[in-house]
Amino acid sequence: MNQFIYGLPKAELHLHIEGTLEPQMMFDLAQRNHLSLPFESVADVQNSYHLSNLQSFLDLYYQGAQVLCTDQDFYDLTWAYLQKCYQQNVRHTEIFFDPQTHGDRGIDFPVVYHGIQSALQDAKTYLNISSHLILCFLRDLSAEAAMNTLEQALPYQDGIIAVGLDSAELHNPPSKFQQVFERAKSEGFLTVAHGGEEAGADYIWSAINLLQVSRIDHGVRCTEDPALVTYLAQQQIPLTVCPLSNVKLGVFPDINSHNVKQLLELGLCVTINSDDPAYFGGYINENYLAVQEALNFTNSQLIQLAKNSFMASFLSQAEKDKYL
Ligand code: ADE
Ligand code: ZN
Repeated sequence: MNQFIYGLPKAELHLHIEGTLEPQMMFDLAQRNHLSLPFESVADVQNSYHLSNLQSFLDLYYQGAQVLCTDQDFYDLTWAYLQKCYQQNVRHTEIFFDPQTHGDRGIDFPVVYHGIQSALQDAKTYLNISSHLILCFLRDLSAEAAMNTLEQALPYQDGIIAVGLDSAELHNPPSKFQQVFERAKSEGFLTVAHGGEEAGADYIWSAINLLQVSRIDHGVRCTEDPALVTYLAQQQIPLTVCPLSNVKLGVFPDINSHNVKQLLELGLCVTINSDDPAYFGGYINENYLAVQEALNFTNSQLIQLAKNSFMASFLSQAEKDKYL
């Protein structure tokens, strides 16, 4: 089974590049940038990862991201993730980045963008991995700050396919960002949004109706509203599900209770992804393996999940057809 999952050509559609910062790299970059960390050792970092909900994770994630300072740092971070993609037969990846996490510490947009983008270009050349970049707004910050970030991104639009919404979901509904998303759409960006991870089905509805998203990131709480499940299935609006993340952050009590198989069998376009693999204990294949072991997918269901990942991607139809 391990080999079967490793061999499947896959696309990853829900991956925060800052969430791929492994503890060893956190130490290496802190040293390179002459920053001190509140940890003695790599093991100490791992032992500090007591995650119970989204906010407990976000606190660690934003703290870790502070070691990312130069375009070389962003290049190295992205390149390390792309090598993982190569090892795990991920042929296409759509990566989120959080420019506000860096801009608020004085790291300018072009530094972040160029570092990530040059690793993506090298991955195309040397690893034959294609990619798209998705700019995420931090939903716990203001709509004005998001608009400002969108304006900073406009000169780089050729390299950014979509905008998204991440960070603390509760009390930060999609409606807060309706104008920003309208502007992004009018500038030609596609849209996605995290929804139904921490908050309920109503946030998924408003991401669809107010932000006109092409996909919902997570979306697993859609089952709280049968009419929404029917709509997602009818419209084939993809969900980018992240099983290990959901268990670590308490969205489900354990992997056996995860609803990804149920959603697939209800006809939804679900995909498997890793979210923040350095924090949640596994990259994409570890996510496939965890749900396979717990929920017993058939081989044809695993193939369907992998095909869904290409179908739900922002590749052109001709590019998708190579994998379907
Ligand atoms: N930022 C990084 N990972 C996230 C997640 N799973 N949900 C919301 N914001 C995030
Ligand atoms: Zn996420």
